[in-house]
Amino acid sequence: MDKRSRIYVAGHRGMVGSAMVRRLHEAGFNNLLLRSSEELDLTRQADVEAFFENEKPEHVVVAAARVGGILANTTYRAEFICTNLQIETNMIHAAWQAGVKSLLFFSSSCVYPRLCPQPMKEEHLWSGPLEPTNEPYAVAKLAGMSMCQAYNEQYGMRFISVIPTNLYGPNDNYDPQQSHLMAALIQKFHLAKLARSAQVVLWGTGAPRRELLYVDDAADAAVFVLQHSTGKDPINIGLGRDWTVREIAEVVKQIVGFKGEIVFDASKPDGAPQKLLDVARLNGLGWKARTSLEDGIAKAYDWYLRSPQAAKPTS
Ligand SMILES: NC(=O)c1ccc[n+]([C@@H]2O[C@H](COP(=O)([O-])OP(=O)(O)OC[C@H]3O[C@@H](n4cnc5c(N)ncnc54)[C@H](OP(=O)(O)O)[C@@H]3O)[C@@H](O)[C@H]2O)c1
Repeated sequence: MDKRSRIYVAGHRGMVGSAMVRRLHEAGFNNLLLRSSEELDLTRQADVEAFFENEKPEHVVVAAARVGGILANTTYRAEFICTNLQIETNMIHAAWQAGVKSLLFFSSSCVYPRLCPQPMKEEHLWSGPLEPTNEPYAVAKLAGMSMCQAYNEQYGMRFISVIPTNLYGPNDNYDPQQSHLMAALIQKFHLAKLARSAQVVLWGTGAPRRELLYVDDAADAAVFVLQHSTGKDPINIGLGRDWTVREIAEVVKQIVGFKGEIVFDASKPDGAPQKLLDVARLNGLGWKARTSLEDGIAKAYDWYLRSPQAAKPTS
């Protein structure tokens, strides 16, 4: 990829897309094509084809998707499968028609089977039933990955699928209906600090293990993969280590500065006991994560405090 390449980052206002833009700029790639969903609705095939025809991107990053937490995934099942299939199909096909040099497709670790052996290796894909709560979303993501592979095989394209672990950082979604683990924890402890609460109650036992990667590290890995991978096989993006929810909550509590106690409500569900990616393939290419959990949470909290999403003290 040369520094003057025209790179289209779809979804540049989202958490992953905005991190990709920061990382590409930092690496000296400044010829970026960016469109909001209002400017270009990627579910509209004719508009997507016209965009590729007119703008002629050379490289494409697909970080646009309909994304959400467990509540959104269970409530909007039809929207999750339909919108994501439309975005992927339109983009991947238009990228082939336009003859782009490479395409990077962001998949998600929910594509692994519900009872996948841990840590999850790329070879475990397609080996068992999916988690039912987010099955429509996961099926759409698997379809996107399969499309990338099929276009590589039939047309000799370089369409790469990456499978990031749970991410957090700037531009994360703090809406309680949509948020993932880290945003939910930061918001909960922040609100409890403002209210001077004695306790924060968290669902489950605190025992499940979770891998969490700072989103700028994920973008760094993705740009690295775009530059160094052959593109034939999907690649996990993660740290290769995890923590219990209790350990993660303790770090968030300390960074937010909440002085009360953490209580786990074991009557509530825990979710999967562990979700950890095997990152041997990524490490084999020469990439390793750099941001510690403490530094990542401190940066994420700092962003949250400066964002309009942050809860303010009530006077
Ligand atoms: N967040 C995670 O922990 C995580 C982990 C693993 C993988 N991923 C993957 O990374 C990708 C991005 O996730 P994210 O967390 O960055 O999501 P996000 O913050 O919700 O951002 C998604 C972006 O997609 C764009 N978009 C949605 N529908 C669109 C449409 N019809 N037309 C054009 N653009 C559209 C939105 O653009 P506008 O802002 O312009 O509306 C938005 O900026 C997803 O594929 C997800 O599976 C995320």
